Amino acid sequence: MKYFKTILYLAITLAVTMACSKQNKALKIEAPSGEIKVEFQLSKDGTPQYMVQFKDINVIEPSSMGFDFQGQPALQKGLKITSSETNTVDETWEMPWGEQLKVKNHYNELIVRLQESETSGRKFNIYFRVFDNGIGFRYEFPQQDGLDSLIILEENTRFKLTGDHTCWWIPGDWDIYEHLYNTTKFSEIDAIEAGKDVNLAQTYIPENAVNTPVTMRTKEGLHLSFHEANLTNYAGMTLKVDPENLSMVSNLVGSDRLGYKVKRALPFQTPWRTIQISEKATELIDSKLILNLNEPNKLDDVSWFKPKKYVGIWWEMHLNVSSWDVASGKHGATTENAKRYIDFAAANNITGILVEGWNTGWEHWVGFDDREGIFDFVTPYPDYDLEEVVRYAKANDVELIMHHETSAAPRTYEQQLDTAYSLMQQLGIHSVKTGYVGKIIPKGEYHHGQWMVNHYRKVLETAAKYQIAINAHEPIKATGIRRTFPNAISREGLRGQEFNAWSVDGGNPPEHLPIVAFTRMLAGPIDFTPGVFDIKLNQKENNQVNTTLAHQLALYVVIYSPIQMACDLPENYKGHPAFQFIRDVGVDWQQTVVLNGEVGDFVTIARQEKESRNWFVGSITDENKREITIHFDFLEEGKTYDAIVYRDGDDAHWQNNPTSYDLENRMVTNDSTITFVLAEGGGLAISLVKMD
Ligand code: NOJ
Ligand code: CA
Repeated sequence: MKYFKTILYLAITLAVTMACSKQNKALKIEAPSGEIKVEFQLSKDGTPQYMVQFKDINVIEPSSMGFDFQGQPALQKGLKITSSETNTVDETWEMPWGEQLKVKNHYNELIVRLQESETSGRKFNIYFRVFDNGIGFRYEFPQQDGLDSLIILEENTRFKLTGDHTCWWIPGDWDIYEHLYNTTKFSEIDAIEAGKDVNLAQTYIPENAVNTPVTMRTKEGLHLSFHEANLTNYAGMTLKVDPENLSMVSNLVGSDRLGYKVKRALPFQTPWRTIQISEKATELIDSKLILNLNEPNKLDDVSWFKPKKYVGIWWEMHLNVSSWDVASGKHGATTENAKRYIDFAAANNITGILVEGWNTGWEHWVGFDDREGIFDFVTPYPDYDLEEVVRYAKANDVELIMHHETSAAPRTYEQQLDTAYSLMQQLGIHSVKTGYVGKIIPKGEYHHGQWMVNHYRKVLETAAKYQIAINAHEPIKATGIRRTFPNAISREGLRGQEFNAWSVDGGNPPEHLPIVAFTRMLAGPIDFTPGVFDIKLNQKENNQVNTTLAHQLALYVVIYSPIQMACDLPENYKGHPAFQFIRDVGVDWQQTVVLNGEVGDFVTIARQEKESRNWFVGSITDENKREITIHFDFLEEGKTYDAIVYRDGDDAHWQNNPTSYDLENRMVTNDSTITFVLAEGGGLAISLVKMD
């Protein structure tokens, strides 16, 4: 499909050269709506500062910006403004697949050019973009005499809050995002204590810092979410918490091996620092600010990838029914087992199958320090006939999703990228799930540092050459790169479904996804792997999924991803009437409407499937039972829809009775308003088919 940028591009450029006498004058820029305002000013000692207002009320108090370098004085004060300019962009572009087809990108931009008046006279620019639903700013080190490269020891971007907001956060772990979310006042954030988690294969939290996106609600009910966009050739940003001053400051992920955080040749730009600002929590999900701060599609035609639902030889391993390795005596990835899943997929409108544990090396996977050279990505175990599985899948209109567990040995993976992707191309396989379990080798590197950011990008760009899409687990966070490289189809980067199968602390609580929808999901698509029907997990005595069955169904709509797994064992789906919803539900959307929601409590989303134009609704709640009223005014006027409703049974409860559900058919129009009851940890899923 040709990826194209559309319609209106309006750029007004206004260059203003500032006189030295005006150095302390504030430069202002506001959103197209006028509701969000950013002010930039130099303090008396020439320190850059910005502040943000929403409807004339401060959201960010004056906050400073600066850098510490190796072998160079810090860039902090003594700056003067040499020039500034403003631009406006108003355009609409199209996603090849996504939450919606068309994305509006409308912002006003202020570019401030600065130079040190003394020391070395270094030049430094700041770009602000102000949208109707938030802001982004980034730094630029332009080409200049006498400065070829910079070694950044720390970026010092401050975010001074206006109060002790309620925060939804995970620790600023340099190695993993798979923590449970915490809900506390800002002043009560204790990432070191909260980060103690026995379930994680790798973790390193050096500071009382949070990872992004971190979402907050002010006393006045305003919602803020802090993140970054276009993380390219730079270290991931955590935010260090200063509870006394109610402020956060950027804390980049480092490298013990290299001793610095970022090394770049000039000229270069940093990622965007972003603040989403909205009155309603639901508007955070509506926002496409992160995507808009990324560059347009560089891949052009990506029609070789098709959004899909998939099954896989996966959950059975996490349930300990089978294993990745052959030595266990219960190898899951056999030709026969793969064919069983393919038969099931083909019979149920599912077009993908993931097979984990197909390649040799798994005997040496976890618990080994030296994992380099262990896995290769072309040699199947003897009981798995890769060619035959591919042939059988194709004959059934199912495509294999390749699996590459790198075991956090990225150098081994990089050496094999071309060989592994050539094999995939030869076999007509267009997507791969990658994994990075364990501490990164070489020692001293972290999953979220610059070195790994560059690794993940190299993988993405190399894969694109072979028409391969990436679904990374243990990834670098999503920062909207999928706009530029749509083959970044999905990723994990959160506590996924798998924790329900084996975590020792009771799995994901019912509030998990109602928080994720307003935090992690703001960054981009999630491979959460929903759809567990055997909620009590027959094979696992001490684990269960802490939601109702209807909640599991609702996740296909609530969570956005162009690949959605039906993760449970085929035998748990066969003959189950509720499986019809998974058969029917779309994965690629014309439009999305977030109907209602509050962070950590509940959320209801309606999405219209691109091809059929049918609508699907998903609603989930936390541990509280609640009534949800849905106005069906998003439906086409004058049409009647056959609504198939999958709702919690009257006696449903995530703990005592999670599989109780009711199925009913109703006729609805865009005039209909219906109130539904969601059980504790419950959910609601509706498919709406237009009648002729
Ligand atoms: C971690 C992934 O999150 C999980 O889905 C996968 O099964 C294992 N790695 C093995 O690759
Ligand atoms: Ca994982």
